[in-house]
Amino acid sequence: MMAVAHPKPGLRPYLAEDAPLLAQIFRASIEELTTEDYSEAQQQAWAAASDDEAAFTARLGKQLTLVGTLNGSPIGFITLEGPEHIDMLYVHPAAVGQGVGTLLFGAVEKLATARGASKLIVEASDSATGFFEQKGFVAQKRNTVLRGDEWLANTTMEKKLTAKGSNP
Ligand SMILES: CC(C)(COP(=O)(O)OP(=O)(O)OC[C@H]1O[C@@H](n2cnc3c(N)ncnc32)[C@H](O)[C@@H]1OP(=O)(O)O)[C@@H](O)C(=O)NCCC(=O)NCCS
Repeated sequence: MMAVAHPKPGLRPYLAEDAPLLAQIFRASIEELTTEDYSEAQQQAWAAASDDEAAFTARLGKQLTLVGTLNGSPIGFITLEGPEHIDMLYVHPAAVGQGVGTLLFGAVEKLATARGASKLIVEASDSATGFFEQKGFVAQKRNTVLRGDEWLANTTMEKKLTAKGSNP
């Protein structure tokens, strides 16, 4: 029997042709990974953000978007909006728990730090606050946001960045 290598998480820059696949990952991630925290109506209203392909492609294209891969296939993505705001971080349900989220976040943290950002901010879904806490984020405030006809709760979380090697 042939040995199957443990899939190795990888990273690459986003290309415009990735958008349809990333839209599918976005939807699958919301539908399967947030069930404990949001109603089906809330999940559908949230996932609908990727239905307008042109708008979703434009959103990915104007942010700093990185694609996470397993064995070379895209299975997650992160976007940094401006210097310090993480807008999206989604990993496909079939690929969670294998370090892809960590790899994506670590790359954005390094980039933001190198560009001189003093902090990172995210409006974390209730399904992702544990992940961001593990990465050193601290909850700042609870929010309620309107998506379509549905109100969804999230938490603004912040992580202070320290520029390594710089002299204060
Ligand atoms: C949050 C998310 C991106 C994490 O991706 P991932 O690839 O599974 O993350 P990793 O495998 O790198 O996990 C890193 C660590 O975080 C932990 N972790 C992941 N999700 C967690 C959660 N919801 N609560 C607590 N810990 C969590 C893992 O157990 C792991 O810990 P370990 O290193 O000690 O094993 C993914 O679960 C996801 O897409 N969630 C749904 C979409 C969502 O809510 N996105 C955020 C919108 S702001």
